[in-house]
Amino acid sequence: MAGQTPVSYRREGDIAFIEIDNPPVNALSAAVRQGLAQAVVRLADDPDARIAVLSCAGRTFIAGADISEFGKPSVPPSLPDVIAAIEASEKPVVAALHGTVLGGGLEVALGAHYRVAVPGTRMGLPEVTLGLLPGAGGTQRLPRAVGTEAAIDLITSGRQIDAGEARRLGLIDAVAEGTDSRAAGEAEARRLLNQGAGPRRLGEAEAPAADAAMVEEWRRKVMKSARGQVAPMRALDTIVEGLAMPFAGGVAHERRAFMDLMQTPERAALIHAFFAERRAAQQGDLTGVSPRKLDRVGIIGGGTMGQGIATAALTAGLDVTLVERDQPSADKAAAGIAKMLEGAVKRGKLAPDTRDGMLSQAFRAAAAYDALAEVDLVIEAVFEDLDVKREVFRTLDSICRSGAVLATNTSYLDVNLIAQATLRPQDVIGLHFFSPANVMRLLEIVVADCTAPDVVATAFALAKRMGKIGVRSGVCDGFIGNRMLLAYRTAADHMVLDGASPYDVDQAIVGFGFPMGPYQVGDLAGLDIGYATRQRKAATRDPRERVPVFADRLVEAGRLGRKTGRGYYIYDDQSPQGRPDPEIAEMLDGIRRELGITPRSFTPEEIQSRYMAAMVNEGAQILDEGIAARASDIDVVLLHGYGFPRWKGGPMHWADAQGLDRITANIARFAQEDPYFWQISPLLARLAAEGGKLADVNTGKDMK
Ligand code: 3HC
Ligand code: NAI
Repeated sequence: MAGQTPVSYRREGDIAFIEIDNPPVNALSAAVRQGLAQAVVRLADDPDARIAVLSCAGRTFIAGADISEFGKPSVPPSLPDVIAAIEASEKPVVAALHGTVLGGGLEVALGAHYRVAVPGTRMGLPEVTLGLLPGAGGTQRLPRAVGTEAAIDLITSGRQIDAGEARRLGLIDAVAEGTDSRAAGEAEARRLLNQGAGPRRLGEAEAPAADAAMVEEWRRKVMKSARGQVAPMRALDTIVEGLAMPFAGGVAHERRAFMDLMQTPERAALIHAFFAERRAAQQGDLTGVSPRKLDRVGIIGGGTMGQGIATAALTAGLDVTLVERDQPSADKAAAGIAKMLEGAVKRGKLAPDTRDGMLSQAFRAAAAYDALAEVDLVIEAVFEDLDVKREVFRTLDSICRSGAVLATNTSYLDVNLIAQATLRPQDVIGLHFFSPANVMRLLEIVVADCTAPDVVATAFALAKRMGKIGVRSGVCDGFIGNRMLLAYRTAADHMVLDGASPYDVDQAIVGFGFPMGPYQVGDLAGLDIGYATRQRKAATRDPRERVPVFADRLVEAGRLGRKTGRGYYIYDDQSPQGRPDPEIAEMLDGIRRELGITPRSFTPEEIQSRYMAAMVNEGAQILDEGIAARASDIDVVLLHGYGFPRWKGGPMHWADAQGLDRITANIARFAQEDPYFWQISPLLARLAAEGGKLADVNTGKDMK
């Protein structure tokens, strides 16, 4: 850093080096913008400088505007002004790129006159993923660099591209060799000096054509993929409308659209999600606690979950030993894992050589527990049965080295009871992966009464290593996610008993933004799972609880969902995604008659409000009990494990944005019909009465 600014200016011979050093990701804070503006003035005033190289220190070029400044009063100079000043420079400016060049970072690069990147650099304009659009000239300069269609594609999707693709599109001038971006920039600057090249300004380039049919085609695509989000379509319109204006007008038009989007609930929700994901890993009580050694992982049970977890662990570079009940089962699991890795190879995510190395050197599948004697961490993924799991943990206790972390992937069972089967409960933790475990990013880290802090730290380290988002949960039936699922599923079942069809419910929930409704999810997962749980709990069921009789009848009729071709929907060649079945309506009518229920209709809004009220109420209760330490952790679980629409931020954020008093008023209304199910969470009632927010609750169990 030079003096007070994170931007330094240094001249060597006739080249000026402007370097940004603003860890961790060189975001364009007010200080960086000021520093850049000053550096451009200095470049103009420096009689010995003939060209400048703009590069960044640390792990990346600029990763974008400083998101933490959004929603606060803006501090000059604005980013568009800084970029305009760079572009206006009479001396050429070369942007030397590495790491991730995103959002405002790519817009700065587009304001420079030449761009060169080292291999491995990734570039993109991800603003729509934050509910925004590029607001510093990106919608107007990018089409002038790569053409209108490619710009529409990149801006409306927010996707990142690698240096090779950027070169092919004409976004950058060259992919340099090596890893040193500053050196690459210097070499490019020397070449340009030798050529006598002057500044080359995208802002002065002619606007590319925007073919009407092509734009219309993209409009249809974006309408479909945006699913109700406003930013992608606004971005498309802004690109096209701006290109019809002179450049300065296009940029001003873009800035107005950017400022409008800044005010939307969608922007607030998406930025909430961004920070919530990063906050989940912050655990104040683990400050200074080092994770245990983590190189060798053991997995017990090679079914659906064991295979997925093994694949994720191998992909993360861990050594994996899998234990099954017998050798044929072990071989079957090994074949399943090889198939998943093959899938990654086919998708271009994994090199064939790396895959071969993983399978031959870092993986083995055995039938004897002795193979686990020296592993650092074991993840148990056997049948969901407490006695079976306790027996497994007793065996692990006698075999594993001292200090090994012993984890269970149970979905619902009491991790304390599992820990007590060992003489080392401090080493036991829940690691609740989601299916498919090699794809889903969520990992619930279930901390039991005796779990040692360094075991919790090891779990977070594992999540990070696997590229997953670890969220801490306390012990309760179903932890954060499945406990909430039970609540809102039950609300849905009650509506179906009272007259809604499962198809009405699914449609309303998809309308809210979930990828699937609860009955579509049930068919996909297999209806026998819920049936088994209901059977298990039947003996202790409170007589006031309403039973979804129809769900049991379906299973008893052999309709288990997709795997049997019939569940709530019919699945066949004609309708592989499922179509409604008239028999279901007949069955439901019969059940309602038996139960003396006069069916009534539910509007999509009524369905959504009951479903959401149940979800929010259970979330508040989970927070109040300290099962989750922060509302934002609950949001992350629902976003990454249950398909909650990201642009609504998660149920807790959504509830705060709606106003908690509206939700409690709804619950009070529903409770008049069913006071047993609709018991309001005391925390929710208190916050609604006080005008408080779920986001401000911190149960003190973590953290910062
Ligand atoms: N502003 C402020 N802070 C940011 C930031 C940003 N743009 N990007 C990352 N950070 C912070 C994170 O919050 C995190 O802080 P923490 O350590 O206190 O939790 C830290 O930087 C490191 O981030 P990650 O944990 O995400 O690190 P990774 O290495 O996994 O990922 C990254 C790095 C790919 C740059 C990722 O952080 C990312 O995608 N960032 C957002 C990029 C983005 O969306 N840019 C566009 C911004 S909008 C814009 O530019 C508007 C313009 O058009 C005007
Ligand atoms: P699964 O039935 O597909 O696999 C279980 C495997 O464990 C079988 O291959 C079986 O042979 C093996 N096994 C049983 N007892 C064993 C023992 N004593 N030693 C070694 N191997 C043994 O079950 P699935 O779906 O993989 O679930 C496993 C665990 O993961 C359960 O606790 C489940 O609740 C949990 N889970 C399941 C999710 C899912 O979506 N399927 C999601 C998250 C957690």
